[in-house]
Amino acid sequence: MALYRSLRQSLPLARPIAFIRCASSSHSQQKTTSFGFQTVPEDEKEAMVKSVFNSVASKYDLMNDAMSMGVHRLWKDEFVSSLKPGRRGPMNCIDVAGGTGDIALRILDFARENYADRESCVQVVDINDQMLEEGYRRFKKTMYHNTPQISFHEANAQQLPKEKFADNSYDLYTIAFGIRNCTSMPDVLSEAYRVLKPGATFACLEFNKVDNPLLSTLYDQFSFSVIPLLGTILTGDRVSYQYLVESIRRFPSPPDFAKMIRDAGFVTGKDIDGAAWTNLWGGVACIHTGVKV
Ligand SMILES: C[S@@+](CC[C@H](N)C(=O)[O-])C[C@H]1O[C@@H](n2cnc3c(N)ncnc32)[C@H](O)[C@@H]1O
Repeated sequence: MALYRSLRQSLPLARPIAFIRCASSSHSQQKTTSFGFQTVPEDEKEAMVKSVFNSVASKYDLMNDAMSMGVHRLWKDEFVSSLKPGRRGPMNCIDVAGGTGDIALRILDFARENYADRESCVQVVDINDQMLEEGYRRFKKTMYHNTPQISFHEANAQQLPKEKFADNSYDLYTIAFGIRNCTSMPDVLSEAYRVLKPGATFACLEFNKVDNPLLSTLYDQFSFSVIPLLGTILTGDRVSYQYLVESIRRFPSPPDFAKMIRDAGFVTGKDIDGAAWTNLWGGVACIHTGVKV
């Protein structure tokens, strides 16, 4: 626990979390943003998102498996293997909104298993200390524990502390199922651009809207009926899972998100599947990439 303790001492702890409900009329002058299907004042979203992930942290991995019937594992495998971490030698990676460390573990395993790389390292960054605690506990059971290859950091993706996350310092930035929870996606993207080295890759795995009408109907039924029900049964928390499902529907389309990536300064492929983005499972999830020039 020493590594994590020292880390927590050096970073501000999360504010106490309270579930803050929808905007009231007194906030009518404030900038607003989406929180699932609700519109809330921008400055309240962060605490609301923290509340969601505090609530689900201890059951997050179990619920991920239940909600996706294990498919999230395949998407994450595909995401990481498409990036080939370690192929060009050891990499300095940052996994933002990294939660319980699913992507970090895959990056380290991929580099070791494919390139005998035991030097690449991943810094897992998340705004939620309870998700990080789960990740830390999980890594204790791996060979990476207590090595320079893994570390956990509590910070906001929109404003990574410069003294800790320096300009031009990472070879790979990953964010999986995280950016849609952030209040300002442009701020996250501009921080990603800042911390990456020129020539380095930004990669985002996120849910997507499904175009195929039949698949879309099935997906909606599953998302809005089964997932909140599973949340209630497995964690006693319907509200958080309702939010997670709603937030997926609010995420921009692949061309719109590719434009946001370019607006942050990255170069992307053309606006087609297989270039700026790659659809997974008929577009239920999507990998977006950009390169810092
Ligand atoms: C759905 S989880 C994804 C976790 C992990 N990447 C995975 O794929 O399993 C979303 C994560 O985003 C984190 N998060 C939300 N807003 C954030 C922010 N502004 N900065 C950093 N992390 C954030 C949450 O705390 C949560 O751990």
